[in-house]
Amino acid sequence: MKITGNTILITGGATGIGFSLAEALVNAGNKVIICGRREGKLKEAKDKLPQIQTKVCDVSKERERESLFIWVEDNFTDLNVLINNAGIQRMVNLKKGTQDLFSSENEIETNLIAPIHLSSYFIPLFLKKKEAAIINVSSGLGFVPIAAMPVYCATKAAVHSFTTSLRYQLRDTSTKVFEIVPPAVDTELGKGTTSEGAQEYRGIPPSEVAKVTLIALANDEYEILVGEAEDLLIGARTNPEQTFKNLNQW
Ligand SMILES: NC(=O)c1ccc[n+]([C@@H]2O[C@H](COP(=O)([O-])OP(=O)(O)OC[C@H]3O[C@@H](n4cnc5c(N)ncnc54)[C@H](OP(=O)(O)O)[C@@H]3O)[C@@H](O)[C@H]2O)c1
Repeated sequence: MKITGNTILITGGATGIGFSLAEALVNAGNKVIICGRREGKLKEAKDKLPQIQTKVCDVSKERERESLFIWVEDNFTDLNVLINNAGIQRMVNLKKGTQDLFSSENEIETNLIAPIHLSSYFIPLFLKKKEAAIINVSSGLGFVPIAAMPVYCATKAAVHSFTTSLRYQLRDTSTKVFEIVPPAVDTELGKGTTSEGAQEYRGIPPSEVAKVTLIALANDEYEILVGEAEDLLIGARTNPEQTFKNLNQW
């Protein structure tokens, strides 16, 4: 796809990988809109990158996804790229029954239902465009799970599956479907969760994910395996038991 001259919505774009993508895409000559729940984080992002537009939105809420779609449709008729990036990660100890499951935030709504629902809203609009793209952010943990984060890993495996099907359904249209598969990245994700399975290594900088992504988008590489995510995919296919063991030594 062309990586300049697009109008792009990035969910969860105020921090981490989403913000690095916003920065790289603005610098490449695109109009970028970001959304997130925390107004303060959106303001910080706009202070750093005044060209962007911001919108408070909780994508885990069905009504807010609908309002976001209507707002974008009314204000950015040229929108042609959706990046489903917003995500949360929780430790869930299943020995505690339902206690950890939906305690504060719902991983399934945020990580899985939101990308499916938002993609479905935008597809009819995108099909009328000369060129459009849907870009979903999954994870190397979608190939091999860390058992302490069972719901997170399940949502990412499902995002991978959904993206594969979506790409196939849209194969004869002007809308391209990409998947960014990051490895461990040093962001706020999952910080503050202290439990069994928590890791010390925080991973590569989010700017590295953005750099690799822009090159891959320009080359129409639809499955963007960043860094060690590729090793996880190979391990999952060639030696799944050992690869699982390596990630689960807690
Ligand atoms: N970091 C890693 O190691 C890693 C590895 C593989 C994949 N990923 C994926 O990369 C994506 C970005 O994560 P990140 O690492 O950059 O972490 P991050 O810095 O925490 O970014 C996540 C962003 O999503 C937003 N968000 C969370 N829930 C939301 C909701 N309900 N509605 C709207 N926005 C929401 C957050 O802002 P608010 O809290 O203000 O809403 C935040 O800006 C996620 O999908 C994550 O699963 C990360």
